[in-house]
Amino acid sequence: PAPGWTTTCDVVVVGSGIAGLTAALRLKDRVGRVLVVTKDVLNAGSTQWAQGGIAAALGPGDTPEQHERDTLVAGAGACDEEAVRVLVTDGPAAVRELIGLGTNFDHDSAGDLSLTREGGHRRDRIAHAGGDATGAEIQRALIAAVQAAPEIEVIEHALAVDLLLDAKGAVAGLTLHVMGEGQRDGVGGVQARAVVLASGGLGQVFSQTTNPAVATGDGTALALRAGAVVRDLEFVQFHPTVMYLGPDSRGQQPLISEAVRGEGGFLVDFEGNRFMQGVHELADLAPRDVVAKAITRRMHETGHPHMWLDARHLGLDFWEKRFPNILATCRHYGVDPVTDLIPVAPACHYASGGVATDLWGRTSVPGLYATGEVACSGVHGANRLASNSLLEGLVFSRRISDVLPDELPVQRIPAPDRRTPGLVSGDLRDSLEALMTERVGVLRSAAGLAEAGERLEELAAHTTDQADQAAWELTNLLTISIAMCQAAALREETRGSHWRDDFPERDDEHFAGHLDSVLVRGRV
Ligand code: SIN
Repeated sequence: PAPGWTTTCDVVVVGSGIAGLTAALRLKDRVGRVLVVTKDVLNAGSTQWAQGGIAAALGPGDTPEQHERDTLVAGAGACDEEAVRVLVTDGPAAVRELIGLGTNFDHDSAGDLSLTREGGHRRDRIAHAGGDATGAEIQRALIAAVQAAPEIEVIEHALAVDLLLDAKGAVAGLTLHVMGEGQRDGVGGVQARAVVLASGGLGQVFSQTTNPAVATGDGTALALRAGAVVRDLEFVQFHPTVMYLGPDSRGQQPLISEAVRGEGGFLVDFEGNRFMQGVHELADLAPRDVVAKAITRRMHETGHPHMWLDARHLGLDFWEKRFPNILATCRHYGVDPVTDLIPVAPACHYASGGVATDLWGRTSVPGLYATGEVACSGVHGANRLASNSLLEGLVFSRRISDVLPDELPVQRIPAPDRRTPGLVSGDLRDSLEALMTERVGVLRSAAGLAEAGERLEELAAHTTDQADQAAWELTNLLTISIAMCQAAALREETRGSHWRDDFPERDDEHFAGHLDSVLVRGRV
């Protein structure tokens, strides 16, 4: 539909988690008018939910080189080494900047930053806040800073629909669907000199995820529609320890942080066997893909829908102090982790791939930058190291703000949009999620992926004229599902979080690098 209203600004930032708000705060004094658009309220995204923390070489004896090595090992030979070096080198200063902004991280009794360990880290290097509420504290500090900055305008309840391109294919703004009251309601157009995508992940593609409801891959989908190169979509990370709430539970599920294992929790099967021992030298603290696979294997072998996490020995005092929110959540669901085992199973957690960027957050489309989970800078490879995601958003948003001001054109004029509209009915959401979970989830095969591809095309045929949020989101989920399915079929090997039943080994000869995918087909 034609925009009902239009506005202009210098830079639009799409998304309001750590990546989006860091970019907005650093750009505000450098580029003129910054507009932040976000699909729900400012703290509805994944940052708010991050438990474990943010990794950086901040502790005594730790170095960026050690952090780099752990990141590369976890990434299973698919990381961009230069991007990893940037991440770990810029990391400590970026976290200190976050502290300077007013983020209250936890400290030990000596007054030093308290650092913990998670899977794949060979040192204690995870800074945390409020015990297990790190993301919420970071989000609070960032929102306070944004609200104190009159140069930043915010539009909430604003779904970014499509990028506007100029006659040369550069980004000249975007269209928004605003769900609310007032002047800027309905579909509007924002003309801008650059767009920073920081819209987060896509966990809602699957039936069970740790991601909040807003994580429907909107940024990756709109970038694909604008012809951007997207990479590594096949590397979807499944978190090993998500609380199992029964076979019919859908959508966002409670995360039991890896930090619980970092503090001594361990996995057991229904007979009480500690099945991670012997699987990997780091046992329960092996990289995430190794643990998720071991749990899935044990579930298949025993026919049980979940395994157990035993952290009873941590005791009530420790649980209350260190993991107050996880404790409350478990109790809410009738499990007391001080006396009970916690039922856990893997669920979708993080998109390691996304819109391909260089080391400065530039995508393949001029004027479009990407940062955070929506982006693929190459730091995660085939399996993101725990607590590197908040860090990635922070580091790469800082880098975007360093180069973007010098790259802004005087203005960009949107050309008429010639792309074919086509929205798919939101009623198909359950079918899509079930299909993706079954055929494109933890364990994949050529036959399953081919079947998924065909059924996704069938779903795409169910177009609708009803341009509401459910239809936009389903269309975006379908767009990225098709691309993910194609990428997963092309990668005929097992690597990191991409697990193929029919190609169980890693194949460095053919598949060590990225498999770029470009998909430009109108809306779906
Ligand atoms: C967790 O707390 O286990 C999640 C950490 C992460 O995803 O990096």
